[in-house]
Amino acid sequence: MKLVSVNVSMPKTVDHLGRKVSTGIYNEPVAGRVMVRKLSVDGDGQADLTVHGGVYKAVYVYDLENIRYWQQELGRDDLGYGHFGENFTVEGMRDDRIHIGDVFRIGGALLEVTQPRLPCFKLEIKMDLPGFSRQFITSGRLGFYFRVIEEGQVGTGDSIEQVQAGPEKITVWEWGVPESRIRCEPCGPAARLQEGTQARRRKKKKAAQENAYEIVFSESGITAKWDPEYESLLEFAEDQGIFPDFSCRSGICHTCQYELLKGRVDYTFEPLDSPYPGQALLCCARPGSNLVIDV
Ligand code: FES
Repeated sequence: MKLVSVNVSMPKTVDHLGRKVSTGIYNEPVAGRVMVRKLSVDGDGQADLTVHGGVYKAVYVYDLENIRYWQQELGRDDLGYGHFGENFTVEGMRDDRIHIGDVFRIGGALLEVTQPRLPCFKLEIKMDLPGFSRQFITSGRLGFYFRVIEEGQVGTGDSIEQVQAGPEKITVWEWGVPESRIRCEPCGPAARLQEGTQARRRKKKKAAQENAYEIVFSESGITAKWDPEYESLLEFAEDQGIFPDFSCRSGICHTCQYELLKGRVDYTFEPLDSPYPGQALLCCARPGSNLVIDV
């Protein structure tokens, strides 16, 4: 096993659907030896610390074989080292061979595999490929994160030595997200234009609705009648010109969790973990009554 490339970037702001989005996914290879610290690789920064970074996601690792797979699958020759946002591009660490809890020595650093990577919409921005998150998850080629047990310097070409096996013998591949739990929605400029057209039709229809649930977005001061053609409260809110935070749109990351001040919601698919009591995950919830949401 080998470290093929070390890739970092500081967050940058990009335009996405008319909004400014800050993202640290634009990693580029760096030369020389680089310090790996408890929270990140030197020179690397994550924009949204609610879903990226932290002790258990200090270093994102992606195998070269996966990159080659995507080059072929997508017919793309622009997928270089760091393109998937990985800090380490590696060789010989396929998801089906690496176990959660495995510990590796790379250069001066000691690192433990913690969990697979769950993509957010920023990967779709980087790939310029609406809907790619779903394709990425179903491929099972997620890559994984390291936590840093011992800080130290690493560099391109370092060998990767396993020093301990994960106790549970669960591979990264096995720990991935089952397809039944995947729920992705289209995004990106083209999809958004189409959504916008559909949204206008839905709004007309909505105006004709009677007895529809009333949805109050209290923070925004907007009240609207629910239209059952919407997939989720998140989509509904966006078409009202409200833009709650979101990331995976798949019931995984809890970025879209907001306080439910009144009413109850139903879930179109089960979130990976239930929201806190009194909260709702807007990306996968629909109203079960009139609602007041703190958005
Ligand atoms: S956006 Fe990730 S759970 Fe809703």
